[in-house]
Amino acid sequence: VSSAREDGQAFWDSFARSRQPADEKETAALALHGFCPIYDGYRDRAERIAVRSLLPSIDPNWRVLDIGCGPGRWTVPFAAAGAKVTALDFSPAMLEHARRRCEDAGLGECVEFKHGRLEDMDIAALNGPFDLVLAMGIIQYVAPDQLSAVVQRLSACVKSGGHLLHRETLAPLPFTREAMSSAGGAKVVSHYKSFEQYRDTFEAHGLRYSARRSIVPPSLALSLLNRIFPYEQNARNSLGRGLLKFTIALRESILDPLCRLSPELLWRINSRRPTDQSAVLYTRADK
Ligand SMILES: C[S@@+](CC[C@H](N)C(=O)[O-])C[C@H]1O[C@@H](n2cnc3c(N)ncnc32)[C@H](O)[C@@H]1O
Repeated sequence: VSSAREDGQAFWDSFARSRQPADEKETAALALHGFCPIYDGYRDRAERIAVRSLLPSIDPNWRVLDIGCGPGRWTVPFAAAGAKVTALDFSPAMLEHARRRCEDAGLGECVEFKHGRLEDMDIAALNGPFDLVLAMGIIQYVAPDQLSAVVQRLSACVKSGGHLLHRETLAPLPFTREAMSSAGGAKVVSHYKSFEQYRDTFEAHGLRYSARRSIVPPSLALSLLNRIFPYEQNARNSLGRGLLKFTIALRESILDPLCRLSPELLWRINSRRPTDQSAVLYTRADK
């Protein structure tokens, strides 16, 4: 893994080519790159809750931009709710999964697929602005020194009065370590940032913070277990899955309530791992 070159595009494309998801669960494992299924479930749940609360507001004139759309997990429900969706990703294989899912759902006509990088996103080329921009699990791949420039481009894509929904893994305190995994000889690097860093950057570019919904998955015992058996191995056998479920139940019933009293304690107990899954809604006040 350490000898793999850093190339997010090659990583995602190779990962997407290696999988043929047959159902929603496998699609989520592809989009969330199949970490421990229980942990992935928290990320999935944070997004699902946020999407569910937005879907009733969709009207057929809405235009939605799904950046880093992956296999179209959120492209499909927004198109099914009547919006015209533009789905952007830099992985051709991910776009192909998304296209196939939209066609299978009879939504091929409602979605425009764009191959491109977040960093080069251009409102004119995307035919924006949009009523809603979805940024689900993608901005963590942006290096901190590029965050402001990327958010500026993102913000330009949001209509006045429009919204941006951002779901990310957050680090509760400043966090500089990079997390890596590899596929096809390429690795992807995650730059975890704090809620405040994101909020201040979005607000500096005209996107006002509106609401936040957070889920903090367990990780004290999870990280101990992970030191002994890597996530992937735990997920593969029923004993590993049983142990994970047990430690999660323990954490949720006893440790979480204690940790909520002190974010600092939570951070230490989490072995300084970023775990907070937050879905945050921003609104474009003015242009
Ligand atoms: C963690 S997946 C999330 C997929 C989708 N948003 C979801 O929640 O199901 C990240 C996706 O973003 C894409 N991606 C990552 N960095 C990107 C970039 N700089 N420009 C465009 N797409 C990118 C990857 O190809 C991948 O499909």
